[in-house]
Amino acid sequence: MEAFEHIPLITVGTATCGRAAGALAVLQAIREEIARRDLLVEVQEVGCLGHCYAEPLVTVRRPGFPALCYGPLDEDRARRLVTDFLIGDDPCLEYALAALEPNDLFPALEEFPRGACERRVILALCGLINPEDLDAYLVHDGYAGLARALEMSPEEVVGEIVRSGLRGRGGAGFPAGEKWEACARAPAPARYVICNGDEGDPGAFMDRALMESNPHQLLEGLIIAAYAVGARKAIIYVRAEYPLAVARVERALEQARERGLVGKGILGTGFDLEVEVFQGAGAFVCGEETALIASLEGRPGVPRPRPPYPATSGLEGLPTLVNNVKTLSYVPHILRRGAEWFRSLGTANSPGTAVFALAGKVANPGLAEVPMGTTLRQLIFEVGGGIRQDKQFKAVQIGGPSGGCLPESALDLPIDFDSLSEAGAMMGSGGVVVLDEEDCVVETARYFLEFTRQESCGLCSFCRLGTAHLLERLTALTRGEARLEDLDRLYDLAEDVRAGSLCGLGQTAPNPVLTTLRYFRAEYEAHVKEKRCPALACRDLVLYCILPERCSKLCNLCVGSCPAGAVITRPDLLKAIDQAKCVKCNQCLVTCPPEYRAVVKLSPPQLPPEGDAGHG
Ligand SMILES: Cc1cc2nc3c(=O)[nH]c(=O)nc-3n(C[C@H](O)[C@H](O)[C@H](O)COP(=O)(O)O)c2cc1C
Repeated sequence: MEAFEHIPLITVGTATCGRAAGALAVLQAIREEIARRDLLVEVQEVGCLGHCYAEPLVTVRRPGFPALCYGPLDEDRARRLVTDFLIGDDPCLEYALAALEPNDLFPALEEFPRGACERRVILALCGLINPEDLDAYLVHDGYAGLARALEMSPEEVVGEIVRSGLRGRGGAGFPAGEKWEACARAPAPARYVICNGDEGDPGAFMDRALMESNPHQLLEGLIIAAYAVGARKAIIYVRAEYPLAVARVERALEQARERGLVGKGILGTGFDLEVEVFQGAGAFVCGEETALIASLEGRPGVPRPRPPYPATSGLEGLPTLVNNVKTLSYVPHILRRGAEWFRSLGTANSPGTAVFALAGKVANPGLAEVPMGTTLRQLIFEVGGGIRQDKQFKAVQIGGPSGGCLPESALDLPIDFDSLSEAGAMMGSGGVVVLDEEDCVVETARYFLEFTRQESCGLCSFCRLGTAHLLERLTALTRGEARLEDLDRLYDLAEDVRAGSLCGLGQTAPNPVLTTLRYFRAEYEAHVKEKRCPALACRDLVLYCILPERCSKLCNLCVGSCPAGAVITRPDLLKAIDQAKCVKCNQCLVTCPPEYRAVVKLSPPQLPPEGDAGHG
């Protein structure tokens, strides 16, 4: 960002979300255009700003103008930005998303409802600084928390974390200070610190984005944690499916080592620390701390009963502090600004902020950081911009497979560890999947169960067999093949799996089932009693047909779009669907022009009495 004072600076978000949307092509187009026109412009790659819905995102800082963020851009628009804005004086406001600070030219991020809700602490530099440049982090007080920690005794550092009230962001919300204390006090010749960057929840991408966007923040937190508990070896465990996160964390580590922030005699003190990056094989259960340690030791990634907790007996039987990426990312801020500052954010029992990955039917999916205590309604409707295509909100699955599915009546719940668990859900690690009127809660529960059944390590029978049975029953429900008494059996089985499983995977796997049964029982009953899916989502319970009174006869779009040849033209030129051939892919419904809306989905799957479909 330093270049801004003198020459223009263009930054391109090249985290995984940006790359998936075409950021590398945009970056190349910008570089080519700058070279072709022989311009003096600095170009940098940055991480994820959180506005993933607008990727590829580009920010232009040109002296004399506010810093402006553009997106979504393609290569043509990117080239135009270079020529019109950097050669001419046209800031191309038609492509602009927001300005980074208030100004007279264009609305700033903080002026949008989302900006008003957000309070960025660990996301503050994400998408703004080059994650591969240690100096970019240092300019923003990077490693100042470490410097302060090293002026304190290890006990004082632990005390600061205890006083901050920081709770672990990996899922369970266990007080970080208590865990640090337990690890520091456990008598042992050596200790370890592990950063848990496994992140396997469907719909979650917060930890990946943090590692890709600001790896030094995490590394600084890790070094402080190691100093505080007396560890000389730390490991960053990242799943191998996150290659960019691995590369950026490794690069950060290399730079930190070169500058004496890792290794022997850190910052001129007597504190030595070696840090290593370990790539996990990408199994959800390996995120569970005891399974993670087993996989680090080269054994199958299978959990073991706790206690003993890793804080007293972990890697190689030695006291091991395991903390999530987000938990450790807060640590430098707490050390720099103090425990009281952290407590001033959020709620009394859940201080600080929470980072969420918004996915599903929300209008503006992406990453957001809000104070704890923000309501689900604010998160979904103000931060996320509401429901896509103005559809009706149905439910929110918060906390991934370990969380729960909450209805509209829960929208005014403050988001914190305690309120969500009272509602039967969980903060989890921050994945939020928003469902609209077209999503079926039974199918959603089935989807999450399919995930947990696949990911169950199979060690304990409650989890191995229980998740399989739950999945079988949910599948039968989505096919209209269940009886009413099966709902009670489903509930009892879910309770048993929760009570009997060895680790958090099995203990929380029933949550999506239990919460949907609790809040959406009528929808389950419709699947049983009427063989009907009210959301028209369960394939076995819907049928597509073409209403003759709406069909234009002359338009052949549905016929052309059907991959199964199931849409036919009748002798009277009306279109109809051969039900025996229909694969329910939705193409005919999507392609039927909105002025006709002749294709309809029906549930239960019965043709209307005067039905045409299949009769042609
Ligand atoms: C099945 C399962 C998967 C988990 N996956 C993760 C994960 O990907 N990342 C994580 O930080 N914690 C995960 N956890 C929680 C960890 O076991 C542990 O509580 C956490 O790393 C502690 O860090 P924290 O106190 O900073 O939250 C998982 C737990 C279970 C039961």
